[in-house]
Amino acid sequence: MGYTMVILFVLAMVYAYFWYRVHGYRRYCTSNVSLRGKTVIVTGGNSGIGKETAIDLARRGARVILACRNPNLAEEAVKEVSKRSKSTNVTYRHLDLNSLESVRNFATGFLEEEERLDILVNNAGITGGYPYYNMVPPKRTVDGFEYVCGTNHFGHFLLTLLLLERLKKCSPSRVVMVSSNYYEHIQTAIDFKPKSPDGLRYPGLNDYAYSKAANVMFTRELARRLKGTGVTAYSVHPGNVNTNIIVENNPRHVWISPIIWLLLLSERTGAQGSIHCAVDESITDLSGSYFENCQPRPLRSSVVKDDAMCKKLWEVSCQAVGIEDAD
Ligand SMILES: NC(=O)c1ccc[n+]([C@@H]2O[C@H](COP(=O)([O-])OP(=O)(O)OC[C@H]3O[C@@H](n4cnc5c(N)ncnc54)[C@H](OP(=O)(O)O)[C@@H]3O)[C@@H](O)[C@H]2O)c1
Ligand SMILES: *[C@@H]1O[C@H](CO)[C@@H](O)[C@H](O)[C@H]1NC(C)=O
Repeated sequence: MGYTMVILFVLAMVYAYFWYRVHGYRRYCTSNVSLRGKTVIVTGGNSGIGKETAIDLARRGARVILACRNPNLAEEAVKEVSKRSKSTNVTYRHLDLNSLESVRNFATGFLEEEERLDILVNNAGITGGYPYYNMVPPKRTVDGFEYVCGTNHFGHFLLTLLLLERLKKCSPSRVVMVSSNYYEHIQTAIDFKPKSPDGLRYPGLNDYAYSKAANVMFTRELARRLKGTGVTAYSVHPGNVNTNIIVENNPRHVWISPIIWLLLLSERTGAQGSIHCAVDESITDLSGSYFENCQPRPLRSSVVKDDAMCKKLWEVSCQAVGIEDAD
């Protein structure tokens, strides 16, 4: 009996120690800025980090538009976001990032029916499953991109460019790109060739790590091009967060829960980085930066840091989505 107590106590202390190492240093967005009169889009706002971000921004008084691919999930989310934020100014608009046509339809409808755009949170994302390496042959989007990069990068790239004039008109305004520290896996020059022999478009951009590196690089080049316009852009790693993205990839058993609580952040905590980059007034001079734990962080990949590489990604992406590159 005595021994059992000692062992349980020691285990509890060890658990508490590791829990503190993961959760104890987490920063929360400290800004209490109001967003009354502002309009926000959150892609993938029906779930996980995106939903918690939407709730926070709605609570601040913003009109919040969830951009989602699944109407039923979106309707449910609108109800939950409204209820938890006590806001009636929450709605959804259909967006499937797998299809450039859907992105264009979203933008056209939005620009016609909405007056403002103050904050664009490009949050939606998929991993393509574990391991993150290429499936052979890779799954493709409607437009022939590898599925994960097509969704996470090309879809958001087109969306942002189509909404840019409206953001400029409403400046000071912001773009937040939800990336991941997974970008660090990209350490060698990206191959930008437009087609593989079997017709896959941009075969060099082909998995989660590339998509998240592209998010950071796009943000850097976007910030550079937007200098002086009052529109700023930030990329964010939310931390490792207990969302569908994790559940999707791992069978969930009850006995795993203590490990999950130990290693993963809650959705609300995981949303803090996106919220910080969307509203905090102290970061306007840091446009183009990459954030972790609500702080700017130096990039740990010479490829992602390379301005020429970011510019190249921009040019290639313009061609890929069929948009005139006006620099
Ligand atoms: N969770 C983590 O540990 C972690 C770590 C690093 C980075 N991130 C990033 O955080 C972001 C949010 O992910 P999460 O963890 O909150 O996962 P999540 O709960 O699975 O949310 C992802 C959202 O993206 C949406 N989405 C997926 N494909 C889409 C498409 N083709 N068109 C429109 N929406 C689409 C999903 O819609 P459905 O509900 O219809 O599927 C969902 O709303 C992602 O960009 C992810 O890469 C997460
Ligand atoms: C919703 O938000 C928009 C933009 O912030 C604002 O103009 C409008 O008055 C709000 N509507 C309601 C019902 O609060």
